[in-house]
Amino acid sequence: MAEKNLDFTPDEIQGYIRRAGEIVREIYSEKLNRRVFPGMEPDEVMAKFAENLPEEGMDIENLLGKVRTDVVGAATMSVGPHYYGYITGGGNQVAILAEMLSAALNQNNLKWHSSPVSTELEKLVIRWVCQFIGYSDGAAGAILDGGSTANFNCLAVARKNMMPEGMSRKGLTGMKPMTVYVSGEGHSSFDKAVDMLGIGLDHLRKIPVDDRFRIRPAKLIVQIERDLKDGFQPVCIIGIAGTTNSGAVDDLNALAEIAKEYGIWYHVDAAYGGPAAALESVGHLFRGMEKADSVVINPHKWLYVPFEAACILVKEPEKLRKTFSLIPDYLRSNDDSGGRIDLMEYQLPLTKSFKALKVWMTLKAYGARRLRETIQGDIDNAQYLAELAEESDDFELMAPVPLSIACFRYRPDEMSEEDAENLNRKLAHAIEQDGRIFLTATKINGITALRTCFINPRTTKKDVEQILEVIRDVAGR
Ligand SMILES: Cc1ncc(COP(=O)(O)O)c(C=O)c1O
Repeated sequence: MAEKNLDFTPDEIQGYIRRAGEIVREIYSEKLNRRVFPGMEPDEVMAKFAENLPEEGMDIENLLGKVRTDVVGAATMSVGPHYYGYITGGGNQVAILAEMLSAALNQNNLKWHSSPVSTELEKLVIRWVCQFIGYSDGAAGAILDGGSTANFNCLAVARKNMMPEGMSRKGLTGMKPMTVYVSGEGHSSFDKAVDMLGIGLDHLRKIPVDDRFRIRPAKLIVQIERDLKDGFQPVCIIGIAGTTNSGAVDDLNALAEIAKEYGIWYHVDAAYGGPAAALESVGHLFRGMEKADSVVINPHKWLYVPFEAACILVKEPEKLRKTFSLIPDYLRSNDDSGGRIDLMEYQLPLTKSFKALKVWMTLKAYGARRLRETIQGDIDNAQYLAELAEESDDFELMAPVPLSIACFRYRPDEMSEEDAENLNRKLAHAIEQDGRIFLTATKINGITALRTCFINPRTTKKDVEQILEVIRDVAGR
């Protein structure tokens, strides 16, 4: 007879989970400090896996063995303490349990009755995130896959609420051309969003920044005035609460006032920096974020939740619902009485994973106080590295360090500008290959800089001290 049931016996599944648990144990013990970049090229990685689609299945013990050697072996150790690349959080271990349990339950939270628990937990988690960063308690929101999708969704909400009702049926035909405003340091997700939303890349106004990489409000006003005179329809002003490049936080209060004055939707991209608003030390930088019509904040960055989890928060729930609500016949099957809310009306995706579980378990397990302390620890690490770079004779700090990103370059012995540029351009790759630490390169005012981002509680002061040593060593080869 054909074998139709894919399940193991209860004892088998428990045994395999224990076996997978051993792999997790290994990752978080002896593997944590191994070389960060695995030092493999694409064909070497593919060689571990390349085969035709298997017709017959593999024994699970052997499959887990392959994961242990080949999958873990070809992974970049981004959860380890020496990874400072991009804005990649170190994750947390409670959420590992949550991810397993969420897969076990396999909830589909498009309708309330298809997953009461994930719908209510998502609402609760959205409220907790708002409380953590001091945003409106009554805001609605959703947990999406990432900041890019979240920014796209919020721009769609802004467009929907700023443009005439008829746009949904007629598209952009006959509409005034729209404009969106963000600083020159804005994340590339806005470029993608304006392209896909029919706003147009040329209509994303990149406003100049000051010497601390914050938008210049006076320049913004000049641009808005010009656009109004020229017949454009400004639909959104974006404030950045922690730029990707250097962690700069715009004057969010000044932007709120300009948005109010001109009646323009105000969105704050707090994808990275948002959680720092909860801190006594830097909370003042975020003043004005509470006035935003919408906010994006990624728990998968600085709330240490593993990928993926990015929240959209919209102050007036109806404005979010009206953007995404569309209910076909096959999704009308439940009784909507008694306060049931269907998440599908508040987001672009219909089906998504039970992301709220890992965010809820993270917030429950550690509590707001411990998370604040941990975030402060990351800021302290970045500040410490900045101090070390400034005190040294051979490193130059390239940008202020308001949060937990430090950008600097290696320039020993009065090296010429040209040589320093060439050296630092090559360094990020050489450091990747060396494997002891992992960082990336960027440009600050057109000059190549090495960029380190600290959002990992496993990084210690001693690890920070090692960074400059490794760079000196690699540069000297
Ligand atoms: C300020 C900012 N906004 C948006 C994003 C995009 O987030 P994601 O990588 O989750 O798509 C990033 C990513 O680093 C970011 O730094």
